[in-house]
Amino acid sequence: MTRLAIAAVVALVCILPVLGTAAQAQVSDADKRCLGCHSRRGLFKRLENSDHMTMVVPADLFAKSEHAANACTDCHTDVNPGTHLQTRKSIKSARDYSLASVVVCQKCHEKESAAWQNSIHATLVGAGNARGPVCTSCHDAHTEIKGAPVSLANVPCKSCHDTIFAAYVGSVHGQASSDGKTGPLLCSGCHNAHDVSVASSPTGPKNACIACHQGVLQKHQAWLPNAALHFDVVSCPACHAPTAPRRVDLQLVDSGAQTRVQEKAGVPTFQTPGTSVDAIALYNLLRQTTNGHAVLRGRLEVSTAEQIHQLTPKSQAISDCNTCHSAGSDAFKSVTISVAGPDGLPVRYVTDKDVLRSVMSIGSIGGFYAVGGTRIGLLDILLILAGVVGIGVPGAHLMLGVVVRRHLRAHDAASARRRPE
Ligand code: HEC
Ligand code: HEC
Ligand code: HEC
Ligand code: HEC
Ligand code: HEC
Ligand code: HEC
Ligand code: HEC
Ligand code: HEC
Ligand code: HEC
Repeated sequence: MTRLAIAAVVALVCILPVLGTAAQAQVSDADKRCLGCHSRRGLFKRLENSDHMTMVVPADLFAKSEHAANACTDCHTDVNPGTHLQTRKSIKSARDYSLASVVVCQKCHEKESAAWQNSIHATLVGAGNARGPVCTSCHDAHTEIKGAPVSLANVPCKSCHDTIFAAYVGSVHGQASSDGKTGPLLCSGCHNAHDVSVASSPTGPKNACIACHQGVLQKHQAWLPNAALHFDVVSCPACHAPTAPRRVDLQLVDSGAQTRVQEKAGVPTFQTPGTSVDAIALYNLLRQTTNGHAVLRGRLEVSTAEQIHQLTPKSQAISDCNTCHSAGSDAFKSVTISVAGPDGLPVRYVTDKDVLRSVMSIGSIGGFYAVGGTRIGLLDILLILAGVVGIGVPGAHLMLGVVVRRHLRAHDAASARRRPE
């Protein structure tokens, strides 16, 4: 019996790799000659920056990989077997070598390359960010296997976004992925693998959430008035990561393109990010940076990258309207204004309620409405509310409560007129 079982296991172990490699091409004799040197342990090259770069290619993994169908020199077009070691190539740094590989991959993988070119990651690389990922930051050119499953264990994003990964593992989706009850929902399920956008932009993860959770808007409409508006101005994690700190971010967006207004490289910015914006600076920003073609898009969001990813089961999500719609609610005490930095990433300038009040007092709150004619509506009222309550004016609470309620009623009536349901 046991011998039979062992024989069966041995047979299986022998067959599996055969099945796995049946479709794969033989490694050619020319490639075997390259591997004769390049599979030797300890082979390295000294780079211009004095680093030692390993020159070892794992011959067995290469033989099993999708790219074994290619000759080494299909990708390494600059290697001439005849003169390879006589005319040694000079390489500045490992990073430089990786940057050059993008063109190699592009030859055969046009679709993925075009998507990557369109991403915030490629923008970062273009701006000279040394950590911006290129193809070989996430893929190994010598060992790729077609359709090889990406799992929690090997998701490439975690090498750079390790603290986000740790937070994500404990979330509903991280749990579901590790339970194996569903197919894994990894980072690329919400952010894409190649066409990765700035998360807080309209092309961020929200659309992926809604596409997966069919009928989710209707489910919220059952208890949340104007759920579509909430979906637009409240980031999903602001309710679904219930203990996370929240803030209001006023995105300065181009009224035509609807993308964040870009700060130009070389032009001095009006403040150091993270420090408080004063009224004059804000006024100047609105007038000068935008040339009058910008609007402010208010948005409630979670303020730390890690806590965004601690999404909980629905029973813990925030349903209490007072969390946001009450005087001095915490969410409205932290306010930032954001633009796109020269590298495409959002730069957030801290503002505070005093700023908003002094902006108002010098008459430039008109700027909020005049610049592109935006209407932030309730959000503004709530911001002002937070400011007034901050200095503890007795009665203001009550008075502004009435204003807000009236605003809500008026708005409800207006929306009811606009689209009968
Ligand atoms: C006789 C051993 C040997 C053979 C055969 C050989 N290489 Fe190399 N290769 C090396 C060594 C040693 C280096 C490091 C050179 C240095 O230090 O500058 C190297 C470097 C490289 C590099 C790094 C970039 C560069 O040009 O320095 C690549 C890529 C490479 N080899 C590919 C190949 C390919 C493809 C083949 C087959 C066509 C091949 N090698 C055949 C020994 C060999
Ligand atoms: C599908 C394209 C492709 C094929 C096929 C390929 N390589 Fe590479 N190889 C690359 C790229 C891209 C890099 C640069 C990786 C990086 O550092 O970002 C690389 C890097 C190397 C290096 C430098 C060390 C390293 O791993 O970074 C050596 C040596 C090398 N290749 C040898 C070979 C040999 C020998 C073969 C054939 C057995 C081969 N390559 C086949 C694309 C390829
Ligand atoms: C000479 C053409 C060629 C080059 C250059 C090339 N590949 Fe490939 N690659 C292929 C082929 C053919 C396959 C087989 C699967 C397919 O049909 O897409 C493949 C498969 C893959 C896969 C697995 C696809 C899957 O369906 O799971 C990945 C990932 C991949 N390549 C990444 C790269 C990267 C990264 C580079 C650059 C370092 C690169 N390739 C360069 C031809 C190429
Ligand atoms: C930030 C990480 C990352 C970068 C950078 C990246 N990829 Fe990918 N790639 C992935 C992941 C993850 C997958 C697995 C599929 C998925 O999750 O959608 C993948 C899948 C692929 C596939 C298989 C086809 C598919 O859609 O399943 C190919 C081919 C590929 N990548 C090529 C490239 C090329 C070429 C580049 C550079 C232009 C590149 N990748 C850059 C992460 C990356
Ligand atoms: C080689 C390193 C590296 C890898 C791998 C990587 N990233 Fe990034 N990514 C960065 C850097 C650097 C930034 C700029 C922001 C920062 O420093 O965190 C960034 C930015 C982002 C942003 C935009 C942040 C914002 O403010 O909106 C998203 C979204 C993102 N990455 C998702 C991913 C996903 C998804 C993967 C895996 C498919 C991944 N990253 C893999 C380096 C990497
Ligand atoms: C369930 C969907 C989902 C998954 C899975 C997910 N994210 Fe996110 N991610 C989001 C949302 C939503 C935001 C915030 C968007 C917003 O501001 O509205 C975000 C924001 C980000 C940001 C920008 C953070 C900042 O500073 O503003 C980065 C970087 C990021 N995610 C990387 C990752 C990485 C890496 C993984 C995998 C470990 C991952 N995400 C998994 C939904 C997801
Ligand atoms: C104002 C707070 C709030 C916002 C904003 C919000 N949710 Fe929810 N969501 C909830 C609450 C509360 C529940 C639980 C309702 C229940 O148990 O019936 C819920 C339930 C869900 C469920 C489970 C639905 C079911 O019953 O199967 C999903 C999925 C979901 N939300 C996704 C999202 C997505 C995606 C977004 C962003 C586009 C979002 N939510 C925005 C508060 C919110
Ligand atoms: C690729 C599909 C997919 C995407 C994209 C996705 N989810 Fe999910 N979501 C799931 C699956 C699968 C589960 C697990 C259901 C389970 O455990 O029964 C889940 C669970 C949830 C739950 C818990 C529901 C409950 O019954 O308690 C919430 C809340 C939720 N998701 C919100 C979101 C939000 C918010 C986003 C975007 C930021 C998002 N999801 C993106 C597939 C997805
Ligand atoms: C996580 C914070 C949050 C929660 C919880 C929340 N809201 Fe809101 N709500 C907002 C924000 C932000 C706006 C932005 C309004 C704007 O731009 O005019 C808003 C807008 C509204 C509006 C105005 C809609 C319009 O058409 O202008 C109504 C009505 C409203 N909420 C009712 C509710 C009710 C009722 C609940 C509880 C069932 C609730 N909200 C829960 C944040 C929240």
